[in-house]
Amino acid sequence: MCGIVGYIGEKNAQSILIEGLKRLEYRGYDSAGIGIMHDSKINIRKRQGKIKDLAHLLERSPLAHSHVGIAHTRWATHGSPNQANAHPHLDCTGKISIVHNGIIENYQQLKAELQKHGHRFRSQTDTEVVAHLIEHYYRRDLLSAVRLALKRLKGSFALGIISSHSPDRIIACRKDSPLIIGKGKNENFIASDVPAILEYSKEIIYLDDNEIAVVTRDNISVFNLGGKRVVKPVHRVEYDLDAAQKEGYPHFMLKEIFEQPKVSSKIISSRIKGSGIHFEELKIKENSLKNIKNIIIIACGTAYHAGLAGKYLIEYLTGISVTVDLSSEFRYRKLIIPKDTVVVAISQSGETADTLAAVRIARQRGIKILSICNVVGSSLVRESDGVIYTYAGPEIGVASTKAYTAQLSILCLLGLYLANLTKSTPRKEIDKYLAQFRKVPVLQQKILNNEKSIMQVAGRHHHFGSFLYLGRNINFPTALEGALKLKEISYIPAEGYAAGEMKHGPIALIDEYRAVVCIATASKIYDKMVSNIHEIRARAGKIIAIASQGDKEIKHYVKEVISVPLIEDLFSPLLNVVALQLLAYYIAVRRGCNVDQPRNLAKSVTVE
Ligand code: AGP
Repeated sequence: MCGIVGYIGEKNAQSILIEGLKRLEYRGYDSAGIGIMHDSKINIRKRQGKIKDLAHLLERSPLAHSHVGIAHTRWATHGSPNQANAHPHLDCTGKISIVHNGIIENYQQLKAELQKHGHRFRSQTDTEVVAHLIEHYYRRDLLSAVRLALKRLKGSFALGIISSHSPDRIIACRKDSPLIIGKGKNENFIASDVPAILEYSKEIIYLDDNEIAVVTRDNISVFNLGGKRVVKPVHRVEYDLDAAQKEGYPHFMLKEIFEQPKVSSKIISSRIKGSGIHFEELKIKENSLKNIKNIIIIACGTAYHAGLAGKYLIEYLTGISVTVDLSSEFRYRKLIIPKDTVVVAISQSGETADTLAAVRIARQRGIKILSICNVVGSSLVRESDGVIYTYAGPEIGVASTKAYTAQLSILCLLGLYLANLTKSTPRKEIDKYLAQFRKVPVLQQKILNNEKSIMQVAGRHHHFGSFLYLGRNINFPTALEGALKLKEISYIPAEGYAAGEMKHGPIALIDEYRAVVCIATASKIYDKMVSNIHEIRARAGKIIAIASQGDKEIKHYVKEVISVPLIEDLFSPLLNVVALQLLAYYIAVRRGCNVDQPRNLAKSVTVE
């Protein structure tokens, strides 16, 4: 996800564009750039780093005064974060400049075609293709050239375009990526999202897919791809800036919990083509993957819990032995690493000190490293032999939510991919699993639609002084993750445990002051979970059960039941954890905690 902003009017564009980018930093922040029109020439400043780094660059080397400009803050998907890949991008002539949010899925094919026509590319991005395509189609009319170029694009885009051919306007267009137009007095704006321009305009036009806007300082015309004029309503927004960056949610964490169906859909659409699973950015050859005998997963915190679930998934689907290690333990232990071992490092940020240290130790032993990461070009990615990106978009809330389910999804697909590669699971079974996996986004949404009842359960339990989370098999890691979510944002002592361990200690904790969350969704060990529930009831523990929709039996034993849709047990953590995230969130909110920035915690633990 990236942020784009454009300005055309009487004021100097530079400061408005930089302020606008700052309001969009939650959409991505690994590199940024700005392009302005001065004397019908395009001037650009761009660099790797945050928007404040770009602002410092502009202080040292300011752009000329200008009334027209576009700017961009990037969350890399194609091409590492560096200056060359930062937006805006130019065509060969330097007369067309664009900023883009989205993914051009057919960019390689278009790039090859344009190179055959002599176009010279400066970056590894998918975006740059669009600038050259417009140049390729430009005769005398910019709008026609843009329309022709858009018809060639596959994928998603929100584009801001300025050109020396028509220096008095910005062209804006979108498909599957948001783009708005802000109406001002003798000035107009374009942006990915309202926060970028809320300070200057509350009159907003929301572009729809395949619409193109021609924006001058005193006029906004919108056309469809066929060139026909479209009349667009102007909306007045009333909310303030802080709410706008969270898109109306009270906290980034809740926004990110609600983004999970969209993230799951994106993973499915970008990774599953027909019945094949694709990790196009993974540079490890299939032959090496085919001969894997052992996998060691290393990670910290939430990523570690994803790794634990990954063990169940990959071992069940492939028969490959998987061990899971905390990075902070792996790095100091006397390591016994068998031959044909691959280390899988999982990290949302790609900057966690312990995980980086553990990866370096494994590399020193010549072990191949495959990382599952959310930040393109992060330190972990640069030190791995291959990477699978989670593409969850920036995760601002300190408590990891959408990154966790994205890691789980990638581990599900990695398990199925390896199972197919090593023929350890019959093809038709893999197809059955993929059909189940494709249901995840819709089923996650069903849980989110049940938010109110989960909020009520939280309201009845936010006063408990301690929680125990119990799960079995592939939902044992879910119990650990549910406990971590609660403790890190509400500060309530919460412990996750394998339910089978109850008699080996935790049962001593049970009394009427203890809330016990039992993950008892449909599975081969459902009856064992019911036995645990009876043990807890006998000791007056207060139970919250996570159960499958349609489970009538459990309602005889447990008053507080959060129902989740039925799905193949292997994929049930992708649903169960969403309920636990909401439970933790609403308990913390009831306790008045700072949900997005919990005390003592940082989003990325870059020191030991
Ligand atoms: C999870 O909610 C925590 N913020 C924390 O445990 C986190 O998962 C851990 O620090 C690992 O971070 P990483 O995924 O960026 O490596």
